[in-house]
Amino acid sequence: MSAYLQCIEENCQKKISAATKTHVCPDCSGLLDVMYDFQITDPDKVKQTFQQRRLSNDSLDLSGVWRYRELLPFCSDPAKVVTMQEGNTPIYEAPHCAEYTGLKRLHLKHQGLNPTGSFKDNGMTAGVTQARLMNSRMVACASTGNTSASMAAYAARAGMKAVIFIPDQQIAFGKLSQSLDYGALTLQLEGDFDEAMKMVKEITEESEVYLLNSINPFRLEGQKTIIIEMLAQRGWKIPDRVVVPGGNLGNSSSFGKAIKELHDLGFIDKMPMVTIIQALRANPLHKTLIDRSARLIRVEAHTLATAIKIGNPVSWKKAMRAMEWTRGWCDVVSEQEIADAKAMIGRDGVGCEPASATTVAGIKKLIQTKEIDKDEDVVAVLTGNLLKDPDYTVNYHQNNLYEKALYKHELIERKDKIQSTYANAPVKVKARKAEILKVLGL
Ligand code: F0G
Repeated sequence: MSAYLQCIEENCQKKISAATKTHVCPDCSGLLDVMYDFQITDPDKVKQTFQQRRLSNDSLDLSGVWRYRELLPFCSDPAKVVTMQEGNTPIYEAPHCAEYTGLKRLHLKHQGLNPTGSFKDNGMTAGVTQARLMNSRMVACASTGNTSASMAAYAARAGMKAVIFIPDQQIAFGKLSQSLDYGALTLQLEGDFDEAMKMVKEITEESEVYLLNSINPFRLEGQKTIIIEMLAQRGWKIPDRVVVPGGNLGNSSSFGKAIKELHDLGFIDKMPMVTIIQALRANPLHKTLIDRSARLIRVEAHTLATAIKIGNPVSWKKAMRAMEWTRGWCDVVSEQEIADAKAMIGRDGVGCEPASATTVAGIKKLIQTKEIDKDEDVVAVLTGNLLKDPDYTVNYHQNNLYEKALYKHELIERKDKIQSTYANAPVKVKARKAEILKVLGL
């Protein structure tokens, strides 16, 4: 089966070889899709194959991405696949979060339980495999921390040199520590993510270095499996809605493509709505949607959820398309709403990073505005692990989280306190039995 690249712009749709080292259309600079001449005639049989592979110990079958390879058939040589058994993430029922949001039931698909702790691994196994198919020796990305951690790990597995461009002082230490350990060359750039993205795009265009941000359409092929795996885990019972945080908008774009392809190929007969949630002051997609603008309305992004602190998301047109295809929507939530939702997710025994909590915060808001019905079958996708950014969590529980805080290894300025509504601060107690029993109320 041959794969090719195709421009998403309706008045262009140029087709080029999948082996071209470009991530935008050479004619109009539009975004590209990986496309296939799918030959699937019996989707039920393919679903059975997916299920049977769960019993196999073959390395491709053990991957929660490559198990579904019929739906991303761009690599015909299994020996070239770079996998760390990514995907395979659980879906948890979350009764506290359901009650908090006003839903009858709520399920959380926890992508933070991937090998490097975020959903990026689903995309990176595909992106680094394509890099290997292209004989690349050096790969690069700009990142708010998770892409870089994931790329560094997969590049290390593949024996490639990894270069990461990160905004100085703006990524969580959990993420920075990962790329350092995995041996990536780490460039801390002055400025924000959007500037780092601009630099890495220019440099990869002009050199041999292969770009692995989500503008790379092969990344999105891997991320499609978040939806595919979720449906397979639910016995192909289609939820009404999938809720996902929005940053650079790669994930929401891949969800849209997965749902459209599954529908077109006859795997599903209804499309779940894709609802994207952004932080209130990192809201370019929401602004663009509300203003019905044909061009992206960029913003200077601010949020403590540093993973989604992005004002000029590269995949915005694909995200728009995902919302169109699925009758989806984009909304925004405040820093306070994110912080409280994160603590509530914790009460269900599930730990996520701040960006992931936009989902539960967004569902609560959309129930209140009656956009979501309390009976809806909703799956929220948690994108990153709690341990990525423990400072945020500890500050929240110690009543010490500020919306505008400037950290230069230590806090040097703070403003606009976030209320620690569900604080659970540690208790200082002397190492004496009587005192401990007193604290325990025994
Ligand atoms: N959640 C987490 C934990 C993320 O790391 C990101 C993006 C998102 C949500 C947003 O996903 O970009 O596909 O809309 N992190 C990127 C990075 C930008 O560099 O790690 P998106």
